[in-house]
Amino acid sequence: MPDVEKKESKEADKKDFHVSVPMETPGFFLRGSAHLDWGMKNRLSRIFNPKDGRTVMLAFDHGYIMGPTSGLERMDLAIPPLIPHVDCLMCTRGAIRSCIAPDTNKPLVLRCSTGATVLKELSNEVIGVTIEDAIRLNASAVTAQAYVGGPFEKESLANIGYLVNEGCKYGIATLGVTAVGREMVRDSRYLGLACRVVAELGVHFVKTYYCEPGFDDVVAGCPVPVVIAGGKKLPELDALNMAYKAISQGAAGVDMGRNIFNADDPVAMAQAVRAIVHDNEKPQKAFDLYNSLKGKRAKSGK
Ligand code: 5RP
Repeated sequence: MPDVEKKESKEADKKDFHVSVPMETPGFFLRGSAHLDWGMKNRLSRIFNPKDGRTVMLAFDHGYIMGPTSGLERMDLAIPPLIPHVDCLMCTRGAIRSCIAPDTNKPLVLRCSTGATVLKELSNEVIGVTIEDAIRLNASAVTAQAYVGGPFEKESLANIGYLVNEGCKYGIATLGVTAVGREMVRDSRYLGLACRVVAELGVHFVKTYYCEPGFDDVVAGCPVPVVIAGGKKLPELDALNMAYKAISQGAAGVDMGRNIFNADDPVAMAQAVRAIVHDNEKPQKAFDLYNSLKGKRAKSGK
């Protein structure tokens, strides 16, 4: 995509995102969030650590389109051991109510879209969760995905707008996820367009994919914090490398699923990702940490 940009590709080549000039964040630590209400800021401060402005979100909402995908066959067994090592949980209301203890002191980003599965057209979604139920669950943010350029682009963008409208009534933030349809290329031009579109619709933070080259342009062109999805399972060192590169280029964290819960040792992987995001650890050091934690856990049988 986008054809419109191809037509004016000479113009597009002239874009300057001033990546070396950080966006100012006057009065509040998160970009683009200075003028939000107290409640919204408080909820965002639960998701993002105010000390460094970053987050490690654990995504385990896959079942809503994929059913019992590998690694999440038993959410009640897979997720609780990971919770101490992440900052935030991203999942459906069915998962949180059935498998996560309510005394969990981690903020919830609630998946609210529905209507599609891997068996049909994924972009054909509606919002299936009321804001009242999100409030009942004490969600810090609600989320749906935008299929920019996809068959149901308009509907998916309307879903995002709806969540922003409803969430803003009660100070609940919206995460805009940029889903990439089969026919789309995950390059900086497409992801930059999609991130900017959902930010302009009013979401408070954006989840997208890492790309190279040009991820720093994607982040710079998006006036709210950007976190990356992990995507398909990679070898652990590669996943840590990707997280490191994303953070170095301005991402405010990760919202990672398969690369954590499908790792050889998911608990060790959550801690290694955390070391990259919050301790600025280099990928090889984080991988050494992963192997050492994995070795210790194998020895102790825990
Ligand atoms: C899909 C989502 C998923 O939560 C997310 O992409 C899954 O994370 P991962 O790709 O790291 O497994 O929002 O749109």
